[in-house]
Amino acid sequence: MANSPSNAPLTPDYIDHGWAPLAAASVSDGFVHVRWPDGAEFAAYSLWLAENADGYGLEPTVRESALEPTDLPSAAALVSASVDDDGALLVGWEHRAGVRIHPGWLRYVADRRHLPESALPATAPWTAAEFAEPPTIDGSEILDDESVLERWLTGLVRHGICRLADTPTDLDFVGRLVGSIGPIRDTNFGRVWSVRADVDPNSTANTGLDLGQHTDLPTREVPPGFQFLHCIENTVDGGWSRMSDGLAVVEAIRSEHPDAYDALTTLEWVFMNRARDAEHRWVGPIIDHGSASQPLTLRAFYPVRSAPHMAADDIPRAYESLRIFATVARDPRFQIRYPFRPGDLVGFDNRRVLHGRDAFEGGGSRHLRGCYSDHDDLYSKLRVLRRPAPRPESAHPTSEVSA
Ligand SMILES: [Fe+2]
Repeated sequence: MANSPSNAPLTPDYIDHGWAPLAAASVSDGFVHVRWPDGAEFAAYSLWLAENADGYGLEPTVRESALEPTDLPSAAALVSASVDDDGALLVGWEHRAGVRIHPGWLRYVADRRHLPESALPATAPWTAAEFAEPPTIDGSEILDDESVLERWLTGLVRHGICRLADTPTDLDFVGRLVGSIGPIRDTNFGRVWSVRADVDPNSTANTGLDLGQHTDLPTREVPPGFQFLHCIENTVDGGWSRMSDGLAVVEAIRSEHPDAYDALTTLEWVFMNRARDAEHRWVGPIIDHGSASQPLTLRAFYPVRSAPHMAADDIPRAYESLRIFATVARDPRFQIRYPFRPGDLVGFDNRRVLHGRDAFEGGGSRHLRGCYSDHDDLYSKLRVLRRPAPRPESAHPTSEVSA
């Protein structure tokens, strides 16, 4: 795709779309129909063009539309559409003529590259046949090399898990790294927390007990999207990590245990944390497929599963389905098991990948530092890292928040 000419109109974003000159444009029933030389076509509605056009609705300093719906033109006000000498779309309304629209941006929308998932790697379910340990990359330079960060985030989105090896073992490293991606998701455990056997534990995590396969914080309306665990020290016997990909586990339950799948996806439970100083509650099924815009959430932390929220007749099959879920999640077909070495930093999708831990006890110490982030912020960072070069220079702070 060619570079945009110096007189290219602004687009309603900060993405360098390249220049995709149009072959033809026409008006019909309030739509502008455009065609490119390769035969691709797109129908752009007049009001949508008005909102997003440089020289009409687009506010150039923030690249957002400044047109309230009450200020939009009528569809009948669209009078002309043509292609100018540069290949840009030239649109005329009754009250505003000669508005140029960037053809590379139109092609980007026509190709559906504006959709949330299109700029991210596709998810790839995995089982123990694919990995014996998490996919791993050298993390020693990650704070100084954005290409390493991009590879790591790509692995996190694709596989739901990716490990960095040989990172510095200072207590603040995981907070610095995740804070460089976006906001850390704070919780009642703090922004960055430690996992180790405590005298007065505030969670099952802070004991030496075996932890079955689970996801964290199903007590929240939206549980944290990603979790990061950084090994500072580990000299205990045991305490190995266990991971299983929820996408593969859910598919196996759906195909091999359809009755359990039905119960796990439809019967709801109350979740409640038992902290002395917090009382988060939420209601939902164990397997929540969400919607296209809010993907899978597994609510699988039995220590905070509080009570069945269903008809009494359903309770026996609900419990039986939990047994099947936990059994499949621990099945060697799906579960990988590996030690934590100092400097290892494992990131994983907390709503997709189930994590657990072998018991540990006796001499030695095991200290992990951890934190959470939301899906949104990590996806945003990865989309920016994956933008085509050159990047626009006029990056502007997000103005989505308004008073
Ligand atoms: Fe956990």
